[in-house]
Amino acid sequence: MCEEASLSAIAEAVGTPLHVYSRGELRARVRALDAAFAAYPHDLHYAIKANATLAVVREMRAEGAHADANSGGEIDVALRAGFRPDQIVFTGVGKTHEELVRAITLGLKAINAESPGEMERIDAIARAHGTCARVAVRVNPDVDAGSHPHISTGSRANKFGMTPAQAHAMVTSMATRDHLKVVGLHVHVGSQITSADPLRQGAAAIADLAMTLATEGVHLEHLDVGGGLGIPYQPDQAVLSADEYAAAVLPVVRPTGLRLILEPGRWITAPAGVLLTRVVDLKTQEEGRVFVIVDAGMTDLLRPALYGAWHGIEAVEPRDGAHIACDVVGPVCETSDTLGKERELPPVEVGDLLAVRDTGAYGAIMASNYNRRPMAAEVMVDGAGWRVVRRRQTVDDMLQWDV
Ligand SMILES: Cc1ncc(COP(=O)(O)O)c(C=O)c1O
Repeated sequence: MCEEASLSAIAEAVGTPLHVYSRGELRARVRALDAAFAAYPHDLHYAIKANATLAVVREMRAEGAHADANSGGEIDVALRAGFRPDQIVFTGVGKTHEELVRAITLGLKAINAESPGEMERIDAIARAHGTCARVAVRVNPDVDAGSHPHISTGSRANKFGMTPAQAHAMVTSMATRDHLKVVGLHVHVGSQITSADPLRQGAAAIADLAMTLATEGVHLEHLDVGGGLGIPYQPDQAVLSADEYAAAVLPVVRPTGLRLILEPGRWITAPAGVLLTRVVDLKTQEEGRVFVIVDAGMTDLLRPALYGAWHGIEAVEPRDGAHIACDVVGPVCETSDTLGKERELPPVEVGDLLAVRDTGAYGAIMASNYNRRPMAAEVMVDGAGWRVVRRRQTVDDMLQWDV
C-alpha cells in the first residue's frame, strides 16, 4: 500500500515502470524539517533537482517551502509551480549568460555565485540592465562529506565554490559596487551525508567568514547551508535525524544572527517515492543464482548504475515459499543496468510486481531515453485516491524532436 491506495491496483491501471509518490509523506517530511529548525529564523528552499515534477514541487510550495533552482529550466519549474522570484535561490557551477540574464532580470532572492569571474559577469549584466543583482558567494570549505565521491562537493578537489580566503577577498572588493548586493554566503558540501561533522564544518566555514565580514563593516542578510541530509536506504543504516541536523547547524549559525537558508532535497522526497516494476523474465544460472529481469532499468532509476547506490527491493504481494538469491536487473543493454545485486526475494514469477524503495529523489528526474525507452509515468497518492501527475511518454513524444 501507499497510504490507503493499493500499489497493485495503481500499477494495473497505469502500467509499469511507474514512479509513485505519497502526498502525505512529502508534506509530513517538509513539516518535520521545518519544525526541527523552528527555534531560529529560517527558510527551507526545496532543492528542485531532487524531484522536479510539478506536482511534487507544488506540494513543497503548499507547505510553505521556497525553492532552490540549479538551472534555467529549474527556475521555470519554480515559477510554474507558483514561487515568486524573491522565493528562489539559483545555484550552478556553470551558469550561462542567458541563465544569468534571466535570473538578474527576474530579481531572484539570491544568485549563488561560484567564482570571481561569475561575479564580474553578474555585475556587468546587472549594470547593462540598470538593476542591482542579489548575490551570495559559494564557499568551498574543503570538507570531506563522507559520502560517495560523485556526490561530495565541498572538498578542494571539487569544482564547486571558492576557498574562504578567495571569498573573503572577493566580497571585500565587491561590496561597494552599485549593481551587486552581496546578501549572503552559501555552502553545500555534498549529498547523502549521514554524520553531523561535515554539515557542521560547512556551516562553520560560512558563519566564521560572515562574522569576520561584519567586523569589517560588510553586513549580510543570510547564510545558506545547502542541502545534503542523508536517509537510511538500508534498513539498519545510521543517519542523522532532523533534530540532530538542527543541533549540528544552529549553534554555529546562531552567533551571526543571520537568517538561515536550507536547501534540502533528498531527505524530503526520497522516502516518499517507490518505483514499481514488473518481472518480465527469470533466468537461473547453473550455480543456482537467479536473474530477475524487470521492466524498469537505469533509464528509470540511474542511481545504482551511477553511484553503485543501494535501494530496497520488495515484492508488492509476496508469495509464500523459500527465498531465492538473485540479482534484480533491468532490460537495458548495459551490464551496469542492475537495480539490486545479491538480493533475497520471496519466490517470484513473470508478471509479479516489485517495488524499489526510496526513489522519490534523484529517480524520475534522472531518467533518460537510452535504448529509446519512453520515460515512466508518475502518480501522486493522496489517502485512498491517486492521480497521474506525469503521463507516460509515448514513442511519438520521444521522437518528436528528430527533424
Ligand atoms: C547546491 C545544492 N543544494 C542542495 C542540494 C540538495 O541536496 P540533497 O538532495 O542532498 O539535500 C544539492 C544537491 O546536491 C546541491 O547541489
